[in-house]
Amino acid sequence: MKICFLGAGNIAQAIISGLLKAEVLPADIVCIERNSEKIVLLESQHISVQSLGSLADNMFDLIILAVKPKDAIAAAQDLMNFAPHTPVLTLVAGIEIAQYPNPDLIIRAMPNTAAAYNKGITALYANNKALHAFQHSIELFEKVGHVMIMDREDDIHIFTSIVGSGQAFLFKILNTYLTKLKKLSKGNDEQAIEMFKDFVGSLGDLFNQEGDFEMLINKIKSPGGTTQAGLESLEKNNIDLVIEEAFKAAEQRSIAINNES
Ligand SMILES: NC(=O)c1ccc[n+]([C@@H]2O[C@H](COP(=O)([O-])OP(=O)(O)OC[C@H]3O[C@@H](n4cnc5c(N)ncnc54)[C@H](OP(=O)(O)O)[C@@H]3O)[C@@H](O)[C@H]2O)c1
Repeated sequence: MKICFLGAGNIAQAIISGLLKAEVLPADIVCIERNSEKIVLLESQHISVQSLGSLADNMFDLIILAVKPKDAIAAAQDLMNFAPHTPVLTLVAGIEIAQYPNPDLIIRAMPNTAAAYNKGITALYANNKALHAFQHSIELFEKVGHVMIMDREDDIHIFTSIVGSGQAFLFKILNTYLTKLKKLSKGNDEQAIEMFKDFVGSLGDLFNQEGDFEMLINKIKSPGGTTQAGLESLEKNNIDLVIEEAFKAAEQRSIAINNES
């Protein structure tokens, strides 16, 4: 499968790293990029950088649009001028298929940066799931992690809030732990960071083994103990509601971005 990214920033780089780890050949990946620092990085990965004007139909199985939402519609229009029949897989958050110049050739994906470690979770949606390119999109994202196919395009807003933005919410919470540990280590930040890497890594190991957070909590908690006291405090402060509200805010912002474009 030959693919071309228009925009090789954070998310394209994460996917490219995952693809290279999955032994996709650099020769099967091409990027169109205007930022010189990113071009240097691509060259170090042996990925060729082409100009938009060199694009034509039948050069690629998929063209992947990975620019910021403000640049997306203009870039999609440019793509369609040069390769009018090639399906475009857009990674752009918030902009619905109906807003693009040729909706029948658009596939939407919402990946996350864990794709870099082949542990991504990607939502996929197309109005026309019979497109060959839809199958290609599934194959592509399965190389860098898991794929969840959406029945309704609107569900991507919810998925974005949980898996896309939601990753950052967990980072924010974990940062409170790290800050406290750094304080306790009295200036030995490096040691605190090294410890914290294992702390965070072990959360994944424990969940891999158990697959159930209630069970994991019950293994730590004892009646009247320290964990129970802390958990009761979290519940009293409505932790579930706080997180639900963050999901809702991200979902609403995703809907608003669509309406602004
Ligand atoms: N980052 C994530 O975790 C993530 C996750 C899911 C979805 N997304 C979506 O993916 C898209 C890209 O996000 P990102 O974080 O990767 O952005 P980014 O780091 O800013 O990367 C976009 C790159 O595309 C370049 N570019 C923009 N227009 C171009 C054009 N016409 N021709 C050539 N290059 C062009 C930009 O160059 P300049 O710097 O010069 O503008 C930039 O280097 C966004 O729409 C976002 O909603 C991101």
